Amino acid sequence: MKRARCFGKLSMTTPAPAVLPSYPTMPSIRHIQLPDFPLLLAPMEDVSDPPFRAVCKVNGADLMYTEFISSEGLIRAAAKSRQKLDVFDYERPIGIQLFGSDVATMGECAAISTEAGPDLIDINYGCPVKQVALRGAGAALLRDIPKMVAMTAAVVRNTPLPVTVKTRLGWDDDTRNVEEVAERLQDVGIEALTVHGRTRVQLYKGEADWRLIAKIKENPRIRIPIFGNGDIDSPEKAARYRDEYGVDGIMIGRAAIGYPWIFREVKHYLATGQKLAPPTLDERVAMCRLHFEKSLSWKGPKAGIFEMRRHYAHYFRGLEGAKNWRARLVGAEVGEEVFGILEEIAVSEAVLVG
Ligand SMILES: Cc1cc2nc3c(=O)[nH]c(=O)nc-3n(C[C@H](O)[C@H](O)[C@H](O)COP(=O)(O)O)c2cc1C
Repeated sequence: MKRARCFGKLSMTTPAPAVLPSYPTMPSIRHIQLPDFPLLLAPMEDVSDPPFRAVCKVNGADLMYTEFISSEGLIRAAAKSRQKLDVFDYERPIGIQLFGSDVATMGECAAISTEAGPDLIDINYGCPVKQVALRGAGAALLRDIPKMVAMTAAVVRNTPLPVTVKTRLGWDDDTRNVEEVAERLQDVGIEALTVHGRTRVQLYKGEADWRLIAKIKENPRIRIPIFGNGDIDSPEKAARYRDEYGVDGIMIGRAAIGYPWIFREVKHYLATGQKLAPPTLDERVAMCRLHFEKSLSWKGPKAGIFEMRRHYAHYFRGLEGAKNWRARLVGAEVGEEVFGILEEIAVSEAVLVG
């Protein structure tokens, strides 16, 4: 997993480039007005739940999505799928992401999801994992464009909200069909498209290739916002990809895990050309505590404590003694113990070494 490595000296700054190009694009998705060159938080299963979204929001994520939600699960009213529909006012604008293999079921789920009160509905046509893509959902639809078009139309018909899509370049290197996908889905009513610059077969290997994403943007028929996704893990890369590929905004996934400051750092750099100092130890502890508090209140003590464990290593990566702190946090059985250890970290004056 590629990660932002921004834990150098606390006061480090980088001089500004002489001239920064300006991008007054201010894209909107129907009535949802986004700022100049918006930064989107990627939908990530088992990661981008409300507690994680809260820490990304306070750091400047402009548009966020839920984890993907199985349409089959929603129809069965499975508790796990239903819980993922929870969205909160402070998260707006927020999209609910759906995936599935059956056109009618996806239509029904668009209606169910609308009742949960999101700002938009997103369809996942990019998930590469076997349990999804080999069962006719996610990236599988890239191999059946007529069905993808029918599914998208069904979702659009069943919600008054804007519908957006997230997909990949194509199924494999021989079928990089995302340019056709963009036109066909715009024609049936999607109002924004995010493209992860890899094929399904690539999974997460190699480097994301944004060239086709740039070509979609250059297509004079395309009038919806096009967001680029894949491998953005530093402010410099965000600026470079903005300049090279001309997208309307970027979506960030893995680099935000345990490092939600990526949003404020990218924003600041795009606006000023200056690198922000990385978060201090106090800020790291405070953000981790906020994440944990949200986790407890949304999931309850048992799941709240258990599911938070996967995040500690990321929050304290590079910190002197990180392994030991993490082991203690992961071993803590009750909330007070976690809060106590976080307090100890805060006063430890441990320095960031990595
Ligand atoms: C743990 C994890 C879970 C993911 N879950 C989803 C998902 O639910 N829906 C989706 O569209 N993409 C999902 N993705 C893909 C991301 O949204 C994103 O497209 C991908 O990570 C590339 O962006 P990045 O390089 O900024 O991480 C997931 C990725 C990861 C690492």
